[in-house]
Amino acid sequence: MIPLIEKYRDFLPVTATTPIVSLGEGGTPLVPLPRLSERLGVSVHAKFEGMNPTGSFKDRGMTMAVSKAVEEGATAVICASTGNTSASAAAYAARAGLTVAVVIPEGKIAAGKLAQALVHGAKVLSLDGSFDDALRVVRGLVERHPISLVNSLNEYRIDGQRTGAFEVCDDLGDAPDVLCIPVGNAGNISAYWLGFNAYREAERSRRVPRLYGFQAAGAAPLVEGAPVAAPETIATAIRIGNPARGGQAMDAMRDSGGGVSAVTDSEIMEAYAMLAATEGIFCEPASAASVAGLLKRHEAGDLNPGETVVCVLTGHGLKDPDTAIVNAEPVRRLSADIDAVEEAVFGD
Ligand code: F0G
Repeated sequence: MIPLIEKYRDFLPVTATTPIVSLGEGGTPLVPLPRLSERLGVSVHAKFEGMNPTGSFKDRGMTMAVSKAVEEGATAVICASTGNTSASAAAYAARAGLTVAVVIPEGKIAAGKLAQALVHGAKVLSLDGSFDDALRVVRGLVERHPISLVNSLNEYRIDGQRTGAFEVCDDLGDAPDVLCIPVGNAGNISAYWLGFNAYREAERSRRVPRLYGFQAAGAAPLVEGAPVAAPETIATAIRIGNPARGGQAMDAMRDSGGGVSAVTDSEIMEAYAMLAATEGIFCEPASAASVAGLLKRHEAGDLNPGETVVCVLTGHGLKDPDTAIVNAEPVRRLSADIDAVEEAVFGD
């Protein structure tokens, strides 16, 4: 196992004495999507971040944030989360022997993510409020106590998440023309932009992509230009009404020649089902926003024929089994009888 921090040490704020807390994050596959590519007349790839140790891109930032927390002498970490940050924080804190508290919005966390936080021994605190409320509370707590905040407000999280862009460039031999990515608290898109620019400055790539960010229509403060008080979407990971890095993300999209737009829950679920059924990739609903958004941008004429597109699939579909099952065909129940099964398998 090569820790991500070792692989990109030259780009990361670590020294020879930084204790590296790693679970083998990064190195996720850039999977070509041949059917979608043919349909759209562009070359589409999925950066499948669900293949990280805890099943989401958060691990890239968490290896940095927790390694630096240990280096700085912290004994505890805390975050607000829609689920994936809490799963990742809980795992890396367990690995490092730190205590960890996670603050989540009541009833809006996918089952897999909650299971992860619990099994890794986090103190799980569920608030009667939104992610934005939870973030406000933990920001207040870190002012009062010497505990390390591991949300993407933590710059080390962003430093680590830039490695997603590095890997995309390494795999393609250059940056793509277009990057499509879901936007929640707006940390990841900001990190990708910094990463693409750092790589170009280091002459490890020649260009930077246009960034297209996508929010869920019921939680689209950047599209609407104002915070959303009661965000709502099936894509609970991006159910955020007041993104902490919204301004930075908007600058990145503008500077790249891209932009932000919204996708509806039904567009998200169509892309989610299509990826699973025709490309063999099971991502979580929030991740499918990147592909739903690509389809919209394509329809609007924002892509040129033959361009290279990367969609970041931020989390694994297994994170949210309930959404998968509720939206799929029901399981057929049969008697344990060969004729009944034969009819079910080979009949219409
Ligand atoms: N996709 C998934 C699967 C996520 O979990 C998140 C964010 C995003 C996209 C958006 O990334 O916030 O950097 O713009 N999840 C956070 C969490 C908020 O608490 O797990 P972002």
